[in-house]
Amino acid sequence: MKILTVANQKGGVGKTTIALHLTHMAKEQGLRVLLAELDPQSNASNCFIETTGTHLMASNLFDETISGAQPEATGGIGLIRPDRGLYAIESLGHSTQFYPANHLRHLGNDYDLCIIDTPPTLGVIQLAAIIAADYVVAPSHLEKFSLEGFSSLTTTIRQVRDKGLNRKLKFLGFLANRVKSTSKQQSEALTELRETMGKALMPFVVHDRVAVSDAAALGNPVWYKPQSESHRRAAREMSAACEYILKEVQS
Ligand SMILES: Nc1ncnc2c1ncn2[C@@H]1O[C@H](COP(=O)(O)OP(=O)(O)OP(=O)(O)O)[C@@H](O)[C@H]1O
Ligand SMILES: [Mg+2]
Repeated sequence: MKILTVANQKGGVGKTTIALHLTHMAKEQGLRVLLAELDPQSNASNCFIETTGTHLMASNLFDETISGAQPEATGGIGLIRPDRGLYAIESLGHSTQFYPANHLRHLGNDYDLCIIDTPPTLGVIQLAAIIAADYVVAPSHLEKFSLEGFSSLTTTIRQVRDKGLNRKLKFLGFLANRVKSTSKQQSEALTELRETMGKALMPFVVHDRVAVSDAAALGNPVWYKPQSESHRRAAREMSAACEYILKEVQS
């Protein structure tokens, strides 16, 4: 099982949207996919119908040992939902930061790919998700304040590697999301970033499109039953970005 973490130290940049689309696409490609949402906001998990029974919850991943509880099976995917226990994780300190990596590895026989959605702030939870990852992808906006988030995530990834916390970690790059095609500032920022970042900027861009947020509100991927040409355009764009990322993960 490969682990792909979606992270950025900035809120509202599309981490959950991209994590959900990657999950749907991996499922459609026939992969056995596990979505682990380590964000108490529960925006990703709420898109899936809750099944009854006792399941492995996100805060359990931060326990030293876990009982035999398994991820929930819903909508053709495995799901680890966030629970209230996640609120206490930051106060436990860094002693728990390796546990999720270990526990997820033990689930590895049952899944081909695990996608981890993360909270926007640097802390034990986000660090644990980066330590567990084989790959990290970072959705980003192109506004000034979001651009500042680029360097803090890059610094964290470098520190994780330098301290030997995760030697296998591969940073797939920043995915420009919610790009406004009418913004001169953003098209200039994109050109400049391509020159300065090189491969750290993914060769795909996802524009700000109503079809994406409308689909998200219904819990669907944007390529589900496109209704119009602009919807189809949004679907093609998101599909291309997700296909590229999943190809990188499986290469
Ligand atoms: N390409 C897009 N076009 C239009 N709307 C988008 C796009 N990507 C994301 N959104 C919308 O932007 C909002 C924030 O996205 P999302 O929740 O995925 O961000 P996030 O980084 O996970 O936020 P948080 O840090 O709070 O977890 C949502 O309403 C989502 O539907
Ligand atoms: Mg989110």
